[in-house]
Amino acid sequence: MEHDKTEEITRKNIEFYDNLYSDFNVDPIIGILNNLDEFIEVATTTHNSWVGLYYNNFQNELKGKRVLELGCGDCTNAAVMAALGAEVYGNDIASVCGNIVNALNNKYTFEKPIQFIYGDFLKADFPDDFFDVIVGKAFVHHLTHEQEVEFAQKCARILKKNGIVRYCEPAVNNKFFDELRWMVPVKGRPSKLQKEKFEKWLEADPHPIRDNSSAHYKLIGKMFFRDIEIIPFGWIERFNRLLPRGNFNRKFSKMAFRLEKVMPHLLNHTFARSQVVTYRNPK
Ligand SMILES: C[S@@+](CC[C@H](N)C(=O)[O-])C[C@H]1O[C@@H](n2cnc3c(N)ncnc32)[C@H](O)[C@@H]1O
Repeated sequence: MEHDKTEEITRKNIEFYDNLYSDFNVDPIIGILNNLDEFIEVATTTHNSWVGLYYNNFQNELKGKRVLELGCGDCTNAAVMAALGAEVYGNDIASVCGNIVNALNNKYTFEKPIQFIYGDFLKADFPDDFFDVIVGKAFVHHLTHEQEVEFAQKCARILKKNGIVRYCEPAVNNKFFDELRWMVPVKGRPSKLQKEKFEKWLEADPHPIRDNSSAHYKLIGKMFFRDIEIIPFGWIERFNRLLPRGNFNRKFSKMAFRLEKVMPHLLNHTFARSQVVTYRNPK
């Protein structure tokens, strides 16, 4: 039963992302690489998933490291890490991501070209103790619990003893608040109250129904790693959606992310939009 769910969700992800990234133009990514410092400064202080993944100046830990990115998607992050001097392997089940990697390697001279690992990570052949860093940016919440456990087990095996796994994922730490969230329509997703439209949206949605709480990520981490750190964040920054796009919006996000750092943990945890998950010291 769980296995059928996994096959179904994997199929949906392939369909959804092969479609989303077909005809993808890498020129904007090349623009980012040509202004890398400025991009990192802005993205890691104002954009949710970059703030999370690069928490505590993660950009300074990448040079010369062998890094695996799970679910590399449009490969912006893989390209940024490679431009920062990492030896990057990007894995995705959407085959079109391979075209993006090829285009990036053709248009930009990385110290080490990005290597694309197509398909099921669980079938990919990596030696033990191989990677310094494994990252996933908005990736793990696309896995069923069954897949997530197998992924974490394999990550622990192929990670070096002093390596780290770093994910930035959505956080759902309060069921009531989450139910309210589903009732508010957002771009591309109808409200749960619009039954027919919502059902139709759900049919194509590539996210499994799963636990995205910080407690869950801790539980999975503890199965295969000795050190687990979870940092929930983004609850004040959530409100930027109520503001018009533009400069003020970015300023608000920057201020909100800063302010949250001095807020009580209980608030940050309960209303978090996202979480930085770090696993170290594989068992
Ligand atoms: C929300 S996107 C995130 C992409 C990218 N990391 C980013 O930050 O823009 C999720 C990505 O995970 C990939 N994905 C989903 N399930 C996967 C699986 N089982 N194995 C590898 N990649 C998967 C999808 O194809 C998609 O590219």
